[in-house]
Amino acid sequence: MRLHESVTSTKDESSALPAALPRHVAIIMDGNGRWAKRRGLGRSDGHRAGAESVRAIVRMARRAGIGTLTLYAFSEQNWSRPATEVQGLFSLLVDFLASERDELRRHEIRLVAIGHTDKLPLPARLALRKVVDDTRAHTAMTLALCLSYGGREDLVQAARSLAEQVRAGTLDPATIDESTLARSLWTARLGGDPDLVIRTSGEQRLSNFLLWESAYAELVFSDVDWPDFREAEFLAALQAFAGRQRRFGAVAA
Ligand code: FPP
Repeated sequence: MRLHESVTSTKDESSALPAALPRHVAIIMDGNGRWAKRRGLGRSDGHRAGAESVRAIVRMARRAGIGTLTLYAFSEQNWSRPATEVQGLFSLLVDFLASERDELRRHEIRLVAIGHTDKLPLPARLALRKVVDDTRAHTAMTLALCLSYGGREDLVQAARSLAEQVRAGTLDPATIDESTLARSLWTARLGGDPDLVIRTSGEQRLSNFLLWESAYAELVFSDVDWPDFREAEFLAALQAFAGRQRRFGAVAA
């Protein structure tokens, strides 16, 4: 199924959506390999099923009116996986971009890629560039794919960039504050920190994802593997978020 087939909310879904929705949801999509293993399938089958969950969750996020959806698709550390798995993941990405391009356009979704994307294989870089360029002006939702991404790597490149500006005499170190650093991160293009970070498959850690940006995010851990994480599971995570009291270090009102 493609985005356009169900971008209109069903009555049941919209009435179940909580009033307090996160503006920015970020997801660590985990458990593709275990999902496949349990079914006697190969890891690539797990990733293919995971790509279907990506389609379903993008559609639902758009219907729900979420402003930014950030997906951890390939970490800097994932390069250490077998070459065949890495190739398979990037070929899935190319397929995904080809099949969703029209729908992203139709539904005014802006695609951005975050990370050391210069390290990606050429076909993936070309496919990304095309869709990123095509959707640059869209404002209904931002879909951010983290590719060759790491939170520490982002902080390192931001530190380097600030140091270079100091060396060039264009930045006074005394003026560096949180917003200066935030503006230097790859994630500056996302227009705000995540309100909700979801991790699937029962693991409970951040694994180098949005380390700076998640300072005040609500964390929701789902026991469901990513290929089985669809509308009902996403709705449950949104409902869990709505039940949280966010204090940002202050006392409750
Ligand atoms: C984690 O599962 C998942 C990944 C490293 C890759 C995520 C990729 C997809 C969901 C498919 C393609 C993405 C797009 C954007 C089209 P794992 O392999 O670490 O699972 P395991 O921990 O059970 O082994």
